[in-house]
Amino acid sequence: MKVGKKILNSKQNIYLIGFMGAGKSTVGKILAKKLRRKFFDTDALVEKKLNKSITNIFQEKGESYFREIEAEIVKEVALIDNRVVALGGGAIMRRENWEGITKSGMTVYLKWDITSLIPRIVGDTSRPLVKEGVGPLVNNEIEKLLQEREPFYENADIILRCKNDLEPEHIADQIIQSIQELR
Ligand code: S3P
Repeated sequence: MKVGKKILNSKQNIYLIGFMGAGKSTVGKILAKKLRRKFFDTDALVEKKLNKSITNIFQEKGESYFREIEAEIVKEVALIDNRVVALGGGAIMRRENWEGITKSGMTVYLKWDITSLIPRIVGDTSRPLVKEGVGPLVNNEIEKLLQEREPFYENADIILRCKNDLEPEHIADQIIQSIQELR
């Protein structure tokens, strides 16, 4: 049996990784439904744990506190199987997170060109890193951050090129196909 078929039949988690605005949550929900798995979103789990929005957590406690809680959530998620998991864009930057992720499942990078990505996130008030007047990032810094993270994202088992004209449903189908084709 091909590796990919084994993965789909196994209970290994499928982690969606990529930059803010890549569509991890939207695609993840659809993918989970198609594979009859439960869906987790680490940002939502952080918010639930602290009963606060990501924006409030950043504003009140700062990014490093958010990263600590995010790491706790990743650890907890890695102990549960049979899930599709959308990871916050920065989660893969911590070595311990990456270890937990790769031990408990496989990774899919939703890769976008920076030019398509920026309009998807600029002005978004729910993302503190890019929130106007709050977030430290403006366009060229967003690009810098993506460049910094790209090599980490590219360690994914599957890299899926995304474009605006691809419906999330279609991206989910492509992910399933790419997993099936893994050898
Ligand atoms: C972040 C991405 C966000 C969220 C937080 C920080 C990042 O998640 O975890 O605002 O560092 O890229 P999304 O990738 O789901 O937007």
